[in-house]
Order: sequence, then C-alpha cells, then structure tokens
Amino acid sequence: MKRIVVGITGASGTIYGLRLLEFLHQDPDVEVHLVITRWAKENLAVEATGYTERQVDALADVVYSEQNMGAAIASGSFLHDGMIIVPSSMKTIAAIATGLGDNLIARAADVTLKERRPLIIVPRETPFNQIHLENMLKLARMGVDIIPPIPAFYNRPKTVDDIVNHTVMKFLDHLGIESHLDQRWAGLAEAKQAARHESDLADQGEDGKRSETADHMPSGDTLGRTSAEQSLKEVSLHD
Ligand SMILES: Cc1cc2nc3c(=O)[nH]c(=O)nc-3n(C[C@H](O)[C@H](O)[C@H](O)COP(=O)(O)O)c2cc1C
Repeated sequence: MKRIVVGITGASGTIYGLRLLEFLHQDPDVEVHLVITRWAKENLAVEATGYTERQVDALADVVYSEQNMGAAIASGSFLHDGMIIVPSSMKTIAAIATGLGDNLIARAADVTLKERRPLIIVPRETPFNQIHLENMLKLARMGVDIIPPIPAFYNRPKTVDDIVNHTVMKFLDHLGIESHLDQRWAGLAEAKQAARHESDLADQGEDGKRSETADHMPSGDTLGRTSAEQSLKEVSLHD
C-alpha cells in the first residue's frame, strides 16, 4: 500500500491533478490524501474540467481543508510515500521555498522536506521570472523533483488527452508507481518508423483512398496498457 499526498493549487492546468487522481483512484494499493486550495477550486470551474468539487473529492481517500493545520499530513509523524503538488502556483512554490507554511499544502510540503521524503512540484507559469526560477532552483537543490508540464511531441500526441497522459505518466514514474498511460520512448528507429507510418496513412487519406483501420495503428494493446488504464483513458476528462 502506498500513501500519496496530493496538493492542487490555483495555477492553470487543473486537469493534470485530476488525471493523476483518476489514475491513483483506480489503484487499490494507493491511498490518496488530498488538499485543494481556494484558487484551485476557482480554476476547476474556469477550465471547464467537467468536474465538480464533490466529484474531485470522491477521487481521494481523505480530503483536508487548506486551513486545517491540525491535519494528519501537517505532522512528520504521519508516514507517507511522497507528496506531489500539481499544478503548483508560483505563490505556493515561494511559500515552500521560504518555509512559510501558510496553508496545509505549504506546511505538508515543509514537513515532507524535513523528513526527506519525495516531493514533486509541477510548476505552472509562463514565462518564469527570476524569483520563480530561483525558488525552483533552491528546491531542486534540496532534492525536490521539479516537473513542469511541458509536452513532448516525439510520441506524436493527437489530443489534449494524449499530452496530459504523457505528462502524468512522468509524475507517476517519479512517485514510483508503474503506469503505461502513454507510449514510452523505444528508440529512434521505432519512432521514425511510426512517424513514417502515420504520414503514409495521412497521404492515403488525402488521396481519398480507404484509410487503414486502427488495427494497423499503434494501439492501446501495443502500448502495454492494462485494461483499467485503457478504460480510464476512455472515460477520462472531457477536454
Ligand atoms: C484563472 C486563474 C489562473 C491562474 N493561473 C496561474 C498560474 O498558471 N500560475 C500561477 O502561479 N498563478 C496562477 N494564478 C494565480 C494564483 O491562483 C494565485 O497566486 C493564488 O494566490 C495561488 O494560491 P494557492 O497556491 O494557494 O492556490 C491564477 C489565478 C487565476 C484566477
């Protein structure tokens, strides 16, 4: 059983936190402790995620108010396997970098650092100013994994879902939780072959010929996804 603390803050990209929660929720060996800040709740509505606050809460085992400084996760004696803040605002990063502990996410992160447990931060702002960069560098030097949600394109994403899944797979890798939410790099030769195959299919489509069926495309099965992961992808967020 793994115990993961998840913080969602008021930066854009709520979907990354939601997709992670969806994945962790379908794993019976993971217990999720969740904090969502006031501004994250505003973003939940703004970004048309299709989720209500109550539906997000239902994806966690324990949900805490950001004001609850007496919560279990506020103490180092609460054992867990890692904390991830996704997405993380620059304000929350600043609070952690300066040890401010002004809400439960900043406090739980502070405790995670003092107990030398894994801490993953998914910063979302663009461009970064010098304060943002210096705060992140300071945290990185303390062993924090800084994983900005920067998309990869070598895996030829077709949808926003593909982009989100690939990035969430990275978070899971760093949490030590196995997943096959998207294709993994399998070498240049294979990548070039897949790209050529897709170009050929596109050319055939433009000529008005019958397109090849999905049987010939890299499918969920060839990606090694479990059926749970495939169904997760099918029902997952409405972006
Ligand atoms: C719609 C919206 C989008 C925002 N996006 C970002 C963002 O991408 N990055 C960021 O650092 N702050 C962003 N902010 C500002 C933060 O929400 C604000 O700094 C807030 O105080 C963060 O508090 P929290 O980290 O406790 O959630 C956004 C605010 C709003 C209303």
